[in-house]
Formats: sequence, structure tokens, C-alpha cells
Amino acid sequence: MPWDDPGMNDFAQPLPDRSALVIGGGGGGIGRAVSRALAAAGARVAVADLDPQRAQEAAHELGDRAVALAGDVRRREDVDGFVERTVAAFGRIDCLVTVVGSGGPATPRRRWSISRRRSRRT
Ligand SMILES: NC(=O)c1ccc[n+]([C@@H]2O[C@H](COP(=O)([O-])OP(=O)(O)OC[C@H]3O[C@@H](n4cnc5c(N)ncnc54)[C@H](O)[C@@H]3O)[C@@H](O)[C@H]2O)c1
Repeated sequence: MPWDDPGMNDFAQPLPDRSALVIGGGGGGIGRAVSRALAAAGARVAVADLDPQRAQEAAHELGDRAVALAGDVRRREDVDGFVERTVAAFGRIDCLVTVVGSGGPATPRRRWSISRRRSRRT
């Protein structure tokens, strides 16, 4: 489909027979919301998270069109396992979503302290 086809911008377009791997953070706030949206559009979803219970809860909520995977995105063998198990469950991966990060302040601490010093001078 050409990129300027109106269908390319139809985000409500269903995704029947498509499968998605929501990797790392799939059981968290954003990952769970993305998983729900993909499932609502008709996709089968593999929910991967460091916390097995979170992954299970998120997949359970989506019913039998979802599987839960537990592992750490920092470990290559775990990521390889996510891919292998998703392909084993659904036969393919059409969409990959990565939703994990360390959190914490968006501004580096050093820059923050410099701006604090500057603000004290003014
Ligand atoms: N929520 C927001 O408004 C917001 C805004 C901007 C950026 N972010 C960033 O987006 C990311 C996700 O946000 P969220 O609100 O969904 O967080 P969350 O804490 O609700 O979920 C994060 C999930 O990631 C999992 N996780 C952590 N380390 C992992 C690892 N090494 N491997 C696999 N899974 C791992 C956790 O078990 C948890 O289920 C974070 O990095 C956050 O800083 C969030």
C-alpha cells in the first residue's frame, strides 16, 4: 500500500490474522494499554515483561488471543526466547512494540545542579 493511500492513516483499521509482540513492559501501564488496543483491533498479542505475574495478568485480560512471556530485555537469550515463543504461538510477528525504560528524572542530575546554582545567583 503506498504511504499516501488514505488507508495508511486509518488507525482504526482492524488487524485480523496479525500478531504482535509487546516486549518488555508489556505488563506495565503503557504496554498494557498498547496490548489492549492491538487486541481490540483484532491482533493476537504476546505480552512480555520482566515480572511474570504482570505478564500473566495482562495476557489473561486479553483472553485466548494472547500469551504471556516472562524475561528481561537486557538479556539477549530472553529476547530471542520472546521471538521464538511468539512465532511458535502465532506463526508470525507483524508488529513489534518495545515499552521499557529505566524511568527517573528526564534531566541529567549534573545539568540540573548547574541550573540550580545559576538560579541561586539570579
Ligand atoms: N507513563 C508515562 O506517562 C510515561 C511518560 C513518558 C515516558 N514513560 C516511560 O515509558 C516506560 C514505560 O512506562 P509505564 O508507565 O508503562 O511504566 P510501568 O512501570 O507501568 O511499566 C514498566 C514495565 O516494564 C517492566 N520492566 C522493567 N524492566 C524490564 C526489563 N528489563 N525487561 C522486561 N520488562 C521490564 C516492569 O516489570 C513493568 O511491568 C518507562 O520507561 C517510562 O519512564 C512513561
